[in-house]
Amino acid sequence: MSQQTLSPQAIARRAAAEHAVALVQPGMTLGLGTGDTAAHAIRGIAARKLAGLRCVATSSRSAELARELGLPLFALDDLAPSTPQPIDLTIDGADEIDPSLQLIKGGGGALLFEKLVAQASVQMVVIADEDKVVDRIGQKRSLPVEIVSFGSQHTLDRIAKLPMVERAQIRPNASGDGPFCTDSGHFIVDAVLRSSVVAHELHHALKQLLGVVETGLFCGEASLALIGNPDGSVRRISRSREP
Ligand code: A5P
Repeated sequence: MSQQTLSPQAIARRAAAEHAVALVQPGMTLGLGTGDTAAHAIRGIAARKLAGLRCVATSSRSAELARELGLPLFALDDLAPSTPQPIDLTIDGADEIDPSLQLIKGGGGALLFEKLVAQASVQMVVIADEDKVVDRIGQKRSLPVEIVSFGSQHTLDRIAKLPMVERAQIRPNASGDGPFCTDSGHFIVDAVLRSSVVAHELHHALKQLLGVVETGLFCGEASLALIGNPDGSVRRISRSREP
C-alpha cells in the first residue's frame, strides 16, 4: 500500500513498525505480535527476506499472515525448551503504554500467548502510535483479563468486586450473539479501572482469583517502546528490563 492511501494513524504505526524491523538480524528467532501495528511489523520482516529467521506467532491471526508471507513458523515448544528465553526479539503492539513501560495488552484477545512469547524473549519491543501513550494504566482503555469459560459469571463477579476495578463485563463476540473466545477457548473480561490502580498489585490480586487465567497487564516485559507519529518520526521510551 502506498503512503498516500494510509491514514495518519496507519502511517504512524507503520513508522514505529519499520524502526522495530530494523532491529531484526539474520538468523534471529522472533516473536510476532498481534494487532494492526504488529501486522505492519510482520509485513516488514517478510519484506526484508533475511536468512535463517525463525518466527513464533502470538495468535492464529498473526500465524496466518506470517504463513501467507512465507515466514518460517515454529511453535514455542519447538524452540530449545531448556532455554528460558529462546526468542531473541519480540515485536508487539499494545493498548496502553505508561511512562515506565507498563502495558495494557489484549485488546485483540491474544494476551495469553503474547505474554508467553514476551516472557520467552530476550527483548520485547513495543510499537504503537501516540494514542496508546498514557500517564497512568487504565486511563483510556479497559483491562482485558482472560478467564476460563466454566463459571464465567462467578469469575466476572469476583473481578468486578476488586477495589481497583470500577466495573467489568464479559467481552461479546463480533456478531454480538455470544462471548468472544480466545485462541485457547477462554473468555475475556474487560475491566474498567479506577484511577488509584497500581498495576502490579492489581495483576497479583487478579491472579489470586480462581478462574482467572492471565491478565493483560505487562509490568516488566518490555524494554523499549517505539512510538510513531503521522509525520513518520518515531520517539523511543526505554528502560532496563527486570531480571
Ligand atoms: C492483541 O491482543 C493486543 O495486545 C494488541 O497488541 C493490541 O490490542 C494492539 O493492537 P493494535 O495495534 O491493533 O491497536
